[in-house]
Amino acid sequence: MNRNLIFAFLLLAALAMVNAVPYQLLKRAGDVGDPCPAPEGSYIYANLNPFPPVSNQPVNYTVEGGMLGYGITPYKTTITIAYTDKHIIEAYTKALDFYYAKGAPFSFDVLDVPTPQLPSAYAIIVIIADKTDDPNKPELHACSFATIGY
Ligand SMILES: *[C@@H]1O[C@H](CO)[C@@H](O)[C@H](O)[C@H]1NC(C)=O
Repeated sequence: MNRNLIFAFLLLAALAMVNAVPYQLLKRAGDVGDPCPAPEGSYIYANLNPFPPVSNQPVNYTVEGGMLGYGITPYKTTITIAYTDKHIIEAYTKALDFYYAKGAPFSFDVLDVPTPQLPSAYAIIVIIADKTDDPNKPELHACSFATIGY
């Protein structure tokens, strides 16, 4: 599926960045906060409870960020939380049901996100995207990731 290809691409891009950038130089604003490819002027980070996640125990995510070019449109804008290693282990997507104006800093909770059986090393990717007419081609607006166990 195209959606899986998008995530696989993001993971590869994320892992390439981890290798390319000395780790200390990455600014981490939260548990998940390393930037992955997204439109300029967008940032997000997420704090997790618990962190790090425990296999098969749901996690509450607090997501904060801002997007200069985009707002959050109820039922059109989605949050995706993906657990990946070389493949996508699990991806959880939820439509947001509230509004934020373009450029407004946002903060919201995503409760009880299911956690898969986790390998010893994996990445978490958090993505904000808008649905489009093509369900396989969401429009990416903001993205961050964290690697755990590498
Ligand atoms: C997540 O939030 C829900 C609702 O506030 C709460 O019942 C649950 O205990 C929280 N889970 C964790 C792991 O903090």
